[in-house]
Amino acid sequence: MKIAIFGTGYVGLVTGACLADKGHQVHCIDISEEKIALLKQATPPFYEPGLKELLQRGVDSGRLTFSTTPDISGAQVIFIAVGTPQSPNGSADLSAVFAVAHTIKERCTKGQVVVTKSTVPVGTAHILKTILGEDIYVASNPETLREGAAIQDFMSPDRIIVGAEDKEAFDALREVYSPFLIRDQNRIQEMNCASAELVKYGANTMLAMRISFINLLSQLCTHVGADIRDVRQGIGSDYRIGMHFLYPGPGFGGSCFPKDVSSLAFQLREAGVDPALVSATLSTNSAQQHHITRTILEHTKDSEAVGLWGLAFKANTDDVRDSASIFVSQQLLKHQKKLYVHDPQATHNYLKVQPHATTTTRQEMLKEIDVLVILTEWNEYRTLTQEELTLLQGKTIVDARNLLAREAELKKLREHNITYVGVGMRAT
Ligand code: UGA
Repeated sequence: MKIAIFGTGYVGLVTGACLADKGHQVHCIDISEEKIALLKQATPPFYEPGLKELLQRGVDSGRLTFSTTPDISGAQVIFIAVGTPQSPNGSADLSAVFAVAHTIKERCTKGQVVVTKSTVPVGTAHILKTILGEDIYVASNPETLREGAAIQDFMSPDRIIVGAEDKEAFDALREVYSPFLIRDQNRIQEMNCASAELVKYGANTMLAMRISFINLLSQLCTHVGADIRDVRQGIGSDYRIGMHFLYPGPGFGGSCFPKDVSSLAFQLREAGVDPALVSATLSTNSAQQHHITRTILEHTKDSEAVGLWGLAFKANTDDVRDSASIFVSQQLLKHQKKLYVHDPQATHNYLKVQPHATTTTRQEMLKEIDVLVILTEWNEYRTLTQEELTLLQGKTIVDARNLLAREAELKKLREHNITYVGVGMRAT
């Protein structure tokens, strides 16, 4: 099938590369000349495991093409995957989505199906229909991939949400996704556009609420002598609850949760529904970032230097948008701390936002600092080498992800007289 995609960010590019890999003819369009030039050479503009290889295969096969020209001729399905950033009032800024819709309107032909993949507030498909007119079908197909696991999520989806009002749109999207659902075509869930739009906000907010809830409990644990690792295990082994998204940490970040939770609160308010539960998810997240920062400061004397391991908002990405590392850095610098930082992938993006920190290798840093803080759950931070243990002798680790909170690791820390402060557990 011939497909066009507007937007080559995480969502648009992963979608394009995966669709081309399964045999579709995909044309990706972006207004950034710089990005398109990179993509024509199969170079991803951001780090995502497996993407480079997929792009190379798509470009080599001729099934994946890129351009700044909005050529949609012959495309049966046109995806809109441009950004919907947060406006100052908390709502989603849809200007890029509507700009693309007007571009499509000037070039579309009867029977084409226009699909929103960007996260858009409930009612957006309805507005798009009024822009595009009766001859064009409109559908909503929100993306559910996670950064760092995007290709795996797209290639083996647990569900595909499709909202539409016409049989033609449902049929077209079934054809788009059938190569991904060889074993189980029932993973497509069909509904109307408004429901599909709300599924995305509902899912992201539910996950964010779980994180805020466990973070809240972790703070209580510290006060009452409980241990969040046992509490999480006990709560999560109720089959109705489960273990996922119940890891305490420095607060959620990224380009999705903060913006989507805020947009859902806005949509609830607009509809006259009390958004208290949703708003509290955000304020609790902010409180957790403050709590982690206070903990670091409590363990740092005046002139001491602090090292951060992990700058990305989560592991396996180079993305630092709304990352806890940005907030924590700002606060530590405000308190005149000297800051050393390390991340396997995200240092270049972090330094664009926070140029006042010194980057080093993880070992070199340990010679300079008095307190080590672990902020991102990269696998490589789950153990310390003998050399690192020696360099940390007598110093403090604040582990905001509880990565080292395993008896074997804790024993080594005790042997080296290293003070260990995890989240929601007693300092050792
Ligand atoms: C999220 C959703 O998980 C995807 O399903 C969705 O498609 C995507 O947003 C989107 O809307 O496009 P993502 O932002 O890539 O994906 O990251 P997550 O893996 O969900 O993590 C979000 C944040 O929560 C990270 O900062 C992570 O470290 C934190 N987190 C996650 C915790 O603190 N504890 C947990 O138990 C899980």
